[in-house]
Amino acid sequence: APSDPDLVERARAAKEKLGDKVFVLGHHYQRDEVIQFADVTGDSFKLARDAAARPEAEYIVFCGVHFMAESADILTSDEQKVVLPDLAAGCSMADMATAEQVAECWDVLTEAGIAEQAVPVSYMNSSADIKAFTGRHGGTICTSSNAKRALEWAFQQGEKVLFLPDQHLGRNTAVRDMGLSLGDCVVYNPHKPNGGLTAEELRAAKMILWRGHCSVHGRFNLDSVNEVRERIPGVNVLVHPECKHEVVTAADYVGSTEYIIKTLEAAPAGSKWAIGTELNLVRRLANRFAPEGKQVVFLDRTVCFCSTMNRIDLPHLVWALESLVEGNVVNRIQVDKETEKYAKLALERMLALP
Ligand code: 13P
Ligand code: SF4
Repeated sequence: APSDPDLVERARAAKEKLGDKVFVLGHHYQRDEVIQFADVTGDSFKLARDAAARPEAEYIVFCGVHFMAESADILTSDEQKVVLPDLAAGCSMADMATAEQVAECWDVLTEAGIAEQAVPVSYMNSSADIKAFTGRHGGTICTSSNAKRALEWAFQQGEKVLFLPDQHLGRNTAVRDMGLSLGDCVVYNPHKPNGGLTAEELRAAKMILWRGHCSVHGRFNLDSVNEVRERIPGVNVLVHPECKHEVVTAADYVGSTEYIIKTLEAAPAGSKWAIGTELNLVRRLANRFAPEGKQVVFLDRTVCFCSTMNRIDLPHLVWALESLVEGNVVNRIQVDKETEKYAKLALERMLALP
């Protein structure tokens, strides 16, 4: 649906009044009505870097989800205020690993005698607490665009990796990019005693994968790929690495949201693409590339939007911006000092990856 013209005008006016004081970041999964007001759009890696590169902005309005706003707060100065237009914009994957559960897991690894050799690698899609745990134990953060480099780095530091919280990104990267086998990976289930693993299994594993997943990408399956290949002969299947291993293995191309966009930009006219990622982005790409004669379809018509990304809508954005105009900082995301210190260490290790 087209955006409400009155709200569009209010958002425009508020941004104009704020001028350089505000910087609006928009993740690729945001709604069209929101993304039109983003000063920069990107995948989670690009947005983290861009937030850190704006020291003159007093307010960073983050149109994305909670863990992204936390990361922006960690990477910006104390004076800069990060605002998330709707505090209910969380991430179900990030919620699958709590600080208590991860501390308990580390105890399990310690008891199995492998904590010393294990390097934590945490996906950006995790809370600041998990990032701080990662920093404290000598690990790094990664995103879907640098997971391979993060794993290469980690395996130079130790013999094993504890990968949090997305088992699929961890497994896909280990098997596709690092030459590990599925048998080198075990899944740690935080809801079972000792993660549901024996000490022998833990000792034999190279990748200890946390049992987390994305509820959106987890819904694509092998049937989605087979069905689209049958329906559209010659189609290229391009998916996000949060998809299950069977999907990634059956796909032609795999990468982050930024990679997906770049791949379509470089694709020849007449090519056909089925995309396995969030629907707001796929729809936008379908509309954008249709005039160039590139056909873009959704990999599985039964998969839906990311409901938490969609929480950020134009009314919330207008409310946040107009509040800032009045000098009222609503929905500020502020990570406490101690957490920030170690989380920053882990994020900076990621930013320093070759
Ligand atoms: P990227 O934008 O880094 O590809 O991540 C996708 C995602 O799920 C963000 O929540
Ligand atoms: Fe989290 Fe998945 Fe939504 Fe990304 S798409 S914010 S991983 S639930």
